[in-house]
Amino acid sequence: MKNRSLISINDYSKEEIMRVLDLAAGFEQNPSQEILNGKVIATLFFEPSTRTRLSFESAVNRLGGKIIGFSDSTSSSATKGESLKDTIKTVSNYSDLIVMRHPIEGSARYASEVGTVPIVNAGDGANQHPTQTLLDLYSIRKTQGKLEDLNLFIVGDLKYGRTVHSLLMAMAHFNATFFFISPKELRIPAEYKMYLDQRNLKYHEFTDFREIAGEADVIYMTRVQKERFSDPIEYEKTKNAYVLKNAMLENTRSNLRILHPLPRVNEISTDVDDSEKAYYFTQALNGVYTRQAIISLILGLKN
Ligand code: CP
Repeated sequence: MKNRSLISINDYSKEEIMRVLDLAAGFEQNPSQEILNGKVIATLFFEPSTRTRLSFESAVNRLGGKIIGFSDSTSSSATKGESLKDTIKTVSNYSDLIVMRHPIEGSARYASEVGTVPIVNAGDGANQHPTQTLLDLYSIRKTQGKLEDLNLFIVGDLKYGRTVHSLLMAMAHFNATFFFISPKELRIPAEYKMYLDQRNLKYHEFTDFREIAGEADVIYMTRVQKERFSDPIEYEKTKNAYVLKNAMLENTRSNLRILHPLPRVNEISTDVDDSEKAYYFTQALNGVYTRQAIISLILGLKN
């Protein structure tokens, strides 16, 4: 993992994923370690973010490193017409590792080809969000005690949700049974179903999950990705397709946990927040430990 970019969750083998999770558990026990002294991490966010950018920056600060970058690309020379290639080549000269979020699918892979320091993909369009997936796996293992043989319900925008795409590919290592719940307009794309078919993994598609919620170990709620729609009318049709309410958790399994990559809009009612089955805010906290693990492995400070 040393000096390697992380662009897709498939850049890491199952063994490497487990190494990240084990190391993250160590950082949860001891989050303040001065191992990044003298290291500079750049965070280049061409799209908005709260959790991903701030948890990366918290991770670096807790490890004694320094942060440079921007959270609003209009303050960068991209606004003057500078290419992504020139931006990445320049920032490579200023930093040891670049964390980048960008609206264009494939931009992170491209950045890893033109840059001279490792790139961590913090989300590229509707494609991939691998560090979110690593914190999701950490959260699932922590709450379920295992990753294998779980019933994973993924609810909402399965077409544009990059966290969904990365999570599906990662959970394929662990013999999950997938329950895809979405409006018909936002179904899981065929390429991801083929991915599961090739691995003989079971999946089911539904438009409602109230009758089957009792079978879930994990319900992974997602926001309808307004920013990916070309037609605002289509967004309006689907934006409130699912609203998880506390009453819907009656008769669900005791081990069930509700995850959400956040931000939430309407898809989880606030009356779920006090349920012992709600885990999404702790999930976001787990992002700090997981990102500490990712950074320290890529920079060769842990192995
Ligand atoms: N989960 C996630 O990517 O959140 P942000 O958009 O706030 O970074």
